Amino acid sequence: MEKDKILFQRIPAPLLLWYRQNKRDLPWRNNPTPYEVWVSEIMLQQTRVEAVKEYYLRFIQTLPTVADLARCEEEKLLKLWEGLGYYSRVRNMQKASREIMLRYDGEFPQSKAELLTLPGIGSYTAGAISSIAFGNPTPAVDGNVFRVLSRLAQNGSVISDPKYRKYLETELSAVYPKEKKACSEFTQSLFELGALVCKPQNPDCVNCPLRELCEANKHGTQALFPVLPEKKSKRKEEVFVFLIETDEGFCIRRREKGVLKGMNEFPSHVRVDGETPESVLNEWGVYEFTQKASDKYKHIFTHIYWDITCIWVQTESAPFDTFTLREIEESISLPTAFKQCIKTIRR
Ligand code: ADE
Repeated sequence: MEKDKILFQRIPAPLLLWYRQNKRDLPWRNNPTPYEVWVSEIMLQQTRVEAVKEYYLRFIQTLPTVADLARCEEEKLLKLWEGLGYYSRVRNMQKASREIMLRYDGEFPQSKAELLTLPGIGSYTAGAISSIAFGNPTPAVDGNVFRVLSRLAQNGSVISDPKYRKYLETELSAVYPKEKKACSEFTQSLFELGALVCKPQNPDCVNCPLRELCEANKHGTQALFPVLPEKKSKRKEEVFVFLIETDEGFCIRRREKGVLKGMNEFPSHVRVDGETPESVLNEWGVYEFTQKASDKYKHIFTHIYWDITCIWVQTESAPFDTFTLREIEESISLPTAFKQCIKTIRR
């Protein structure tokens, strides 16, 4: 739309000025390598900035380059990611790092098109790396950017609509600054405005550098934009998680199917009608045991909701491999859904 083109052209100058004065001092903003931009952007897709800081610093300290990531042992890598969730993302990062070593001799490709050929790198991440690290005019449209631009133009498209994303990418790339450093800053300034001013609730329009341009501000319709997709209700599963303790420690095994496939777990079981903790333990060959405690926990995944009953039992012979609590806490990667059950032992 012609009207949007004129509107979008007016964004960069005031926004860049504002960004330079108001940007947060974040660990991935200190002259980052493309690898550092990549790591931070993948983490930021799923976790709040405040929580990412610590993960990011530890990850970069442990694996400072693409080459280090490519040769990292899987268990160590998953341990570094423990608590962030979406473990397929870090597995894909390792696959991509190996391709960068093989196909690009360890040098990050610079163009969005080449970046898009790597595992786990979609339009958002490719745009972010290419613009933030290399100064190319390639937008990275995340939830913050959707919110800012939907309000600015009072655009009623649903933010998950791929056509809307494409439209915003095209319109934004046409207004990127000429200079490389400013390109890098422009991408980040849109995130920053969304995080600090154009917030989901109670946007701080009085202090917005784009307030004069913003249609939603003009009409008081901030709360109506962006239009979010309808929320699908989550499937609920009743799950038994067993802390099976022997003299050697606690049982841990690999999940073979379902959510968190391939990850470690305290042996768990999705309850089917009529099953009891005892009947499940019997299935695993555990007949003699004493129950030490039980607790309830919850865990919410993207599409599933787990109602967890955690059962701590002592037995003579373990049906699965055992590890000491110290090993579990220090060197075994354990997703949060299971890790929280350690509270039952500690309390
Ligand atoms: N959200 C997504 N990417 C970001 C970045 N690089 N800095 C701050 N917030 C972000």
